[in-house]
Amino acid sequence: MLGEYHIRERIRQEEIRQQVQKIARDIDSDYRDREPVLIGVLNGVFLFFADLVEALVIPVIIDFVRVASYGPRNVSSGKISFTKDVEVSVKGKPVIIVEDIIDTGLTLSFLVDHIKAREPESVKICALINKLERREKEVDIDYCGFTIEKGFLVGYGLDYNEQFRYLPYIGSLEMGHQSEESVHDN
Ligand code: IMP
Ligand code: MG
Repeated sequence: MLGEYHIRERIRQEEIRQQVQKIARDIDSDYRDREPVLIGVLNGVFLFFADLVEALVIPVIIDFVRVASYGPRNVSSGKISFTKDVEVSVKGKPVIIVEDIIDTGLTLSFLVDHIKAREPESVKICALINKLERREKEVDIDYCGFTIEKGFLVGYGLDYNEQFRYLPYIGSLEMGHQSEESVHDN
């Protein structure tokens, strides 16, 4: 128990480490000699982004965005706006957007459109977790750490009301009932 919440460990620290290494090796071989711009989506991505960048061998440029969404999360008309926009130039460059978790897909499809308007050479998507249950907008994930069906995850950057980002593992926040879901590597 952590305070009033029960967190069930779903992905161990060592499993996270292995998947981050695997994604780094894939990006290394896909972007050899190309220096991609990695754009991390704050705040949830901070640990994943740092570990990924550290694990990469190729040179990269890094930047961050931060977005805020208003209105019900699962309504397509829910507005998304930047509280921090991209600052480096992406024109003509290969871009990789790095996200912690993709849920409805609304944030990411908004981001992809926004980046594409700046005429990059290409845009790929890297997500630590692909959560399937609530997907509304199809997104093509090029690099993915883990796929889960459903559940609310915290830890390794992911929060619930700004809590639990510091946990070194990923767990699900159990609200009263226990649920059996499977997590698998990609
Ligand atoms: P989307 O627009 O619904 O795909 O929203 C993705 C964003 O919602 C993520 O970047 C997270 O900030 C947040 N989010 C979605 N699911 C979870 C979760 O299970 N735990 C923590 N944050 C989540
Ligand atoms: Mg996020």
